[in-house]
Amino acid sequence: MKNGLFITFEGADGCGKTTQIELLDKYLRGRGGNTLLTREPGGKGLGVKLREILLNYDGEVSPTAESFLFLADRAQHIDCIIKPALKAGTIVLCDRHTDSTVAYQGYGRGLDLNRINSLNEIATGGLKPDLTIVFDIDVETSMQRVGKEKDRMESAGVEFFNRVREGYLQIAKSEPERVKVINSSDTIENIHNQVVELVEAL
Ligand code: TYD
Repeated sequence: MKNGLFITFEGADGCGKTTQIELLDKYLRGRGGNTLLTREPGGKGLGVKLREILLNYDGEVSPTAESFLFLADRAQHIDCIIKPALKAGTIVLCDRHTDSTVAYQGYGRGLDLNRINSLNEIATGGLKPDLTIVFDIDVETSMQRVGKEKDRMESAGVEFFNRVREGYLQIAKSEPERVKVINSSDTIENIHNQVVELVEAL
């Protein structure tokens, strides 16, 4: 049984979603909302260890192994953090979730999308976000925002990030009820207002 709300924030690296999730958290708390701000990979505990491997391991990582590591983090996160919080009536704000695996490992790395969807289903036990906001931005701007200090994923190159962006837009097209796209080249304040509008509509 789920009493809370589950909202996920998605987009390519450097899209500004982390700033926006923090602003929304502040907004909801200011209105007395009981929120949990969390992220994938690496919400807490075991996830923090998996995040360290995923972002900083400097040896070869096969795309399938990479997917399983993200999925292991997700299963742990869902079972030990997200589901209990939703049961307690919390508004869970999650920085990246299932759609990141579809966009990055599916569209970006080229793994089979049906398989990724099945694996996501196993990792989440079928739980879906009530709302997903995709922050869309052109790859050149997002790479400028990321800067020179890139982690393992951010070093994947412009072509990879073009595919990731396309992946997110395709996801939004196929699930328009759940997934909303915001143009992330606008000002922080305007984007925040759009986010609030989407969340208030829930
Ligand atoms: P992070 O520093 O959290 O990036 P950001 O601040 O942009 O969210 O790093 C997470 C990285 O992992 C990011 O490059 C996206 C990638 N990722 C995947 O490739 N697949 C996934 O399933 C998830 C959750 C993240």
